[in-house]
Amino acid sequence: MRLIKLVLPLAIVFFLLASCQSGHKLESVSLSQIKNQLNFLSVNFNDAKARTGNSGKDFVSVRSLNSDGSLKIVSSKDWCSGFYAGSLWLASDLTGDAGLKQLAREFTMPLEKEKFNGDTHDMGFKMMSSFGQGYRITRDSAYRDILIQAAKTLTTRFNEKVGAIRSWDHNRDKWQFPVIIDNMINLELLFWASKQTGDQLYYNIAVKHAETTLANHFRADNSSFHVVDYDTITGAVIKKNTHQGYSDASAWSRGQAWGLYGYSMCYRETGILSFLYQAEKIADYILQHPNLPTDKIPYWDFDAPASLAKPRDVSAAAITASALYELAQFVPEKKASYINSAEQILNSLNEIYSSKPGENKGFLLGHSTGSFPHNSEIDVPINYADYYYLEALLRQKNFKKLN
Ligand code: GLY
Repeated sequence: MRLIKLVLPLAIVFFLLASCQSGHKLESVSLSQIKNQLNFLSVNFNDAKARTGNSGKDFVSVRSLNSDGSLKIVSSKDWCSGFYAGSLWLASDLTGDAGLKQLAREFTMPLEKEKFNGDTHDMGFKMMSSFGQGYRITRDSAYRDILIQAAKTLTTRFNEKVGAIRSWDHNRDKWQFPVIIDNMINLELLFWASKQTGDQLYYNIAVKHAETTLANHFRADNSSFHVVDYDTITGAVIKKNTHQGYSDASAWSRGQAWGLYGYSMCYRETGILSFLYQAEKIADYILQHPNLPTDKIPYWDFDAPASLAKPRDVSAAAITASALYELAQFVPEKKASYINSAEQILNSLNEIYSSKPGENKGFLLGHSTGSFPHNSEIDVPINYADYYYLEALLRQKNFKKLN
């Protein structure tokens, strides 16, 4: 009897602890592992920044790993500066952890000055991942004001004649008015600003850019060019190139993922059917591609020849998974198949491509490829892969709640 009295409370405590643990699991993902990794990354950021001395005072975020394994950290003007803050916001949402939320705030605010940076189209990447996720979660009016100014600045890159937002200002000798498929992601900031302010201008610019891209970026097989260059006097297409893909004619994997994500989002924001159809066509292109490996994590370019090294691009897979959860809601007859593909991608990311505890300086996933032709960030962890992975996990969780 005395033994039962002694053992029973212990058994109850053990059971409660065990159920608490499983409450911290999402399918096969350990939320405490995500939390630990992201916290570890912030420690490594502080350490790397401190080692740069005063010259590093502008560094605001981790980005990836250098080829020697050291942490690559960046200032706010880098196109990737918002994704670590965004990962912290998403992880705080997934886990309910107040510490991650506080850290997210700390990594978000240093990006504020980007709201006036009109030198790049990457405004949406930087500001929606950081302030946008922050506003979604906190409704902090300071974040709202910053985002509205950011959207205003982004509109200054729109050219009426071309009907698009200029992507890059570099390589002026090569392109007159380059527009890249990646730019579709920046439109979300404009849709958001239009709803917040009631100003139709943001919406009109976003729709026009999406229409122009739809008209000129896609090939007959529904794969996408990376860069389309326009004549600013006539608005005509001058040429179609690649920058980060294998060749002008190839299908750079992340570009296909940006297109899928972009047109799914544009349909959500507008209800325009041609955007939905394009998203479906891109999904088919990616998922039915004969060169997509069975684990559904693409090589860096769908057309990279066997004679070249063919590292994967986990970031393209993470973006695709997140986009498929969104697209599935809009296409009832393909919902099961899109969800099935998204789950397969997430399973591969969880089982094969996730960092072990303490690995990769705290990044969640390895094996992304930033720019193969530039020999830059090949087969390494990159912060936007983590960001879209966490967004996909959140979308998966929300999907399961509703279905
Ligand atoms: N410019 C975004 C990317 O490299 O995917």
